Amino acid sequence: MTSKLAPLSASKVKISVRPENERNQPIKNEDLIFGKDFTNHMLTVNWDNKQGWHAPEIKPYGNLSLDPSTCVFHYAFELFEGLKAYKSLKNEKDIIMFRPDKNMERMNKSSDRICLPTFESEELIKLIEELIKLDKDMIPKGKGYSLYIRPTMIGTSEGLGVHTPDKAMIFVICSPVGPYYKTGFKAVSLEATDYATRAWPGGVGDKKLGANYAPCIKPQLEAAKRGHQQNLWLFGPNKNITEVGTMNVFFALKNSQTGKKELVTAPLDGTILEGVTRDSVLALCRENLDPAEWEVNERYLSIDEVKERAAKGELIEAFGSGTAAVVSPIKNISYQSEDISVPLQEGKQSGKLTEDVMKWISDIQYGITEKANWTKVF
Ligand code: COI
Repeated sequence: MTSKLAPLSASKVKISVRPENERNQPIKNEDLIFGKDFTNHMLTVNWDNKQGWHAPEIKPYGNLSLDPSTCVFHYAFELFEGLKAYKSLKNEKDIIMFRPDKNMERMNKSSDRICLPTFESEELIKLIEELIKLDKDMIPKGKGYSLYIRPTMIGTSEGLGVHTPDKAMIFVICSPVGPYYKTGFKAVSLEATDYATRAWPGGVGDKKLGANYAPCIKPQLEAAKRGHQQNLWLFGPNKNITEVGTMNVFFALKNSQTGKKELVTAPLDGTILEGVTRDSVLALCRENLDPAEWEVNERYLSIDEVKERAAKGELIEAFGSGTAAVVSPIKNISYQSEDISVPLQEGKQSGKLTEDVMKWISDIQYGITEKANWTKVF
């Protein structure tokens, strides 16, 4: 007899709403702190290896109840995503999700890697849409403001044996958020970390697993002790630049002989998170920058090359990229106690390309410009 496990199905959703008089009210834009407040409802979907995906539930936001032996607490069977929904600045009634298919694709890759169940991406997107619609009044309006969506999957098998989880759960929570930097762009100073490694060949650095994040705080604290906002991750004997804090990283360089400019980010060799913003930056730069003037390359770039090129005046600008901040300009890198200064525009907190990239991406996110297949509008 063949057993067929039930697929994830949005049409089976059961919705129970929080009574009107118990709901959190929308938060004023100026009071928003990243990831601190949540909307009134959450989504949960259980899975087990006999039945497959159970009926999804949208219900009032609240605690989960799990046995202390549950495998997520012991062996880190956990993965997550981060994406955003925006109130359109063109058609007030429209809500826009930015490239949710990319997050679902990555979420399935992460779950497959740690033996949690995969799911039908389109169905989870439909469920997230339902969840958002229920709390649409809590999506803050205005450029820089959005609803941060956190889909998460955990292994929920009980018992201390280390094995493939026979039970799992997807849950999705949503947090109204403001601009990462309240005062607009604020360029950050980095400390290059060469004594600790974020990810390595054959490892899981390209997956969005919670286990990749906890070990990265200590080097950030070390950098902070010396006055830097973030750390820059290096890897291997060549000290190649991989990521910055929890973001992908881009460098713009200029060849002083030919005058040709180059935008560089690390290649997806399994050690680099497959950032949706990274992918968007690459696509938009390849589309919008003049190829006679610019090359856009995914290649290894060592900290020594950055140092040498900065000394020759060939470092133009640098920025991190991620869902939370979109782009985050860099002004300085401390490497082996020496400072590499990264140029900014006169009187501004970012380089010109960083500013342009921010505008290209956020105009799509807020419905000001259209980009086929990059938005889900509802
Ligand atoms: C991002 O969106 O840049 C992040 O990875 C931050 C998130 C883990 C809070």
